[in-house]
Amino acid sequence: MADCLICTNSIEPFHDFGRMPIANGFLRPEQVTDEFFFELKVGFCPSCKMVQLTELVDPDKLFHDDYAYFSSISTRMAEHFRQYAEWVREKYTAAADPLVIEVGSNDGIMLRNFSNAGVRHVGVEPSANVAQAAREQGINTLCEFFNEETARQICDEYGQADAVLGANVICHIPDLHSIFAGLDVLLKPTGVFVFEEPYLGDIVEKASYDQVYDEHFFYFSLHSVRSLARRHGMELIDVLPQSVHGGSMRYVIARQGSHRPTASVAEILNREIDNGLAHAATFVRLSERIDASRDALVGLLQELKGQGKRIAGYGATSKSTTVTNFCGIGPDLVEFISDTTPGKQGKLSPGVHIPVVPYSHFAESRPDVALLFAWNHASEILANETAFRAGGGQFVVYVPEVRILDDKTSYRHAG
Ligand code: SAH
Ligand code: TMP
Ligand code: ZN
Repeated sequence: MADCLICTNSIEPFHDFGRMPIANGFLRPEQVTDEFFFELKVGFCPSCKMVQLTELVDPDKLFHDDYAYFSSISTRMAEHFRQYAEWVREKYTAAADPLVIEVGSNDGIMLRNFSNAGVRHVGVEPSANVAQAAREQGINTLCEFFNEETARQICDEYGQADAVLGANVICHIPDLHSIFAGLDVLLKPTGVFVFEEPYLGDIVEKASYDQVYDEHFFYFSLHSVRSLARRHGMELIDVLPQSVHGGSMRYVIARQGSHRPTASVAEILNREIDNGLAHAATFVRLSERIDASRDALVGLLQELKGQGKRIAGYGATSKSTTVTNFCGIGPDLVEFISDTTPGKQGKLSPGVHIPVVPYSHFAESRPDVALLFAWNHASEILANETAFRAGGGQFVVYVPEVRILDDKTSYRHAG
């Protein structure tokens, strides 16, 4: 059995997705012969409550100069980060000439808000192509992995920070102890570490198993984050549920005793107990629900295909790699996947090799059914696709259950 990356106790594996490729490993046709695969398996640590992968892919294989995900592709997320930045500015940057650091700043989607407001900032972003996109907008970006060493480097050059921020990145970092050691160096005595990541409570509630893929080493809850912070003399001082990315949680962490924790912390910790997030049995049940979801999705797609319908994927998300590979959905069922990211277009999807095409192809070739892989962006997408639906096009979703969206039902799980 694997050991917990946080507390070294044995973890209890609860679901095996089988052989998986790199979730963002879109391939040129000539690359299919040497595609990399690993065993995607997820487990629960009964001791510190951290849900995590049991086998890790080397981060250098995931984050590099050809990283496929450009954050600013979504206007909804750009607005979300504008609000996130504003909230941080109001609450945590009252000091004179504040300094804000962002871990995993990608193409600058959050930091541009600080940069535009003239706030001193440093982005730490190891994927060179997205880091370059941020620099081109004048955002101060260090192209490195954030860890204890880079934290020291930043502290030497800029001094201590008022706030270290992150979004959809902390769960990507296997050595979280190094991150906390870095925070200890880098944060002012009253400084805060604020990050938001997909929330385990939403994953369990919605059986949104597609959040499980190579880049997501951890699936956080307040229980596991609190336990991690305590090991480093820090505490959880606030938590704010977020609707983005299928349900996320914003965590605020500070040095023990430096801030008074809000009532939300105790409230949501209690809710987690009620929802079983601290108990192994919950995850055994989740595994059964994941298998049932796969069977229902494959059954529905085969039925639609049997009716002569043409099915296309909507959004070549990293999450879709888990769905297509776990369910065995290949080009025989899904003709193509349309995606607005230029770097993904003209490539094949990881593992099952469905062609990824520009959005114009979706609009022109008029499939009957769109399998909504980017379900977390549904509010933005459904608003844009009224013509597709008016012309008889149907959206299929699989979170929180497998179904065809009809015009009368709303889809409230969108970010
Ligand atoms: N924060 C953005 C990007 C999320 S994608 C958003 O929410 O949209 C995750 C990003 O984290 C990638 O750009 C990846 O290159 C970066 N990353 C991965 N490991 C990292 C590490 N150890 N330190 C800093 N950034 C990292
Ligand atoms: P994400 O779920 O990891 O945020 O990735 C979303 C993917 O979906 C990304 O590759 C861009 C793509 N996408 C579209 O193709 N059309 C859209 O309207 C949106 C919002 C995203
Ligand atoms: Zn543990």
